[in-house]
Amino acid sequence: MSDASACERTASPIDLSIRSPREGRSGNGLPGPLAEAALFFGAWLRHPANIGAIMPTRAPLARAMGDEAASDGTGSIVELGGGTGPLTRALLASGISHDRLTVIERNPVFHRFLVRQFPNLRILHADAEELTEALTRHQVGRVRTIVSSLPRVGWPLARQRSILSQSFAALGSEGGFLEFSYGPVSPVPCILLRELGLVARRLKRVWGNFPPATVWGYRRQLIAGNGPS
Ligand SMILES: C[S@@+](CC[C@H](N)C(=O)[O-])C[C@H]1O[C@@H](n2cnc3c(N)ncnc32)[C@H](O)[C@@H]1O
Repeated sequence: MSDASACERTASPIDLSIRSPREGRSGNGLPGPLAEAALFFGAWLRHPANIGAIMPTRAPLARAMGDEAASDGTGSIVELGGGTGPLTRALLASGISHDRLTVIERNPVFHRFLVRQFPNLRILHADAEELTEALTRHQVGRVRTIVSSLPRVGWPLARQRSILSQSFAALGSEGGFLEFSYGPVSPVPCILLRELGLVARRLKRVWGNFPPATVWGYRRQLIAGNGPS
């Protein structure tokens, strides 16, 4: 059984009463941003390892990720782990059009929340471990950039390898994979960088975020003589 169906079974009706920020006050009387924070915190309490943070990504870091993705040329963009949508909002605010963006979210409550917030966006209820299948099923072709906020740190290596190798299969030789960290080291472990032939770059330090964060970019290492595939 996939984790997605396990989440489905444990989703509580309280989650579903919380409306998106666009809809103003939520069913529990909280204004939008507080409702979003409450929804996120509730999900973290139930599935701490799957959610990986106690609150949504803050605006300065979300903006930095959006700007990096927008500066990476044209083409499809896939966001892994949409949550309550701070990065999705930032990607759209940075000028990326709706038709270029696909969001993948495994948690059914977050997925429903995102669909209500962004009715014109392709938001897939899917597991990043089944990325190839999800992108094929929804006819998303070659991807230019993947923006990930999956809480991979601490996940078994095999699971990380599966997600990263499917991501780079979708990206081809030229695409880039963006991720952020709050610590000084690359969130993609060195062993996987070597195995998958990737180079890591610190793209931006976001001092204005709390806590300060680093935006990382990963690409396939180009081997002399091998042009883009
Ligand atoms: C740290 S939260 C980030 C959420 C949001 N993007 C943000 O920046 O606030 C990680 C998100 O990844 C989702 N997630 C975790 N594992 C996943 C998987 N295997 N496939 C798809 N989404 C996953 C979680 O449900 C959660 O929404």
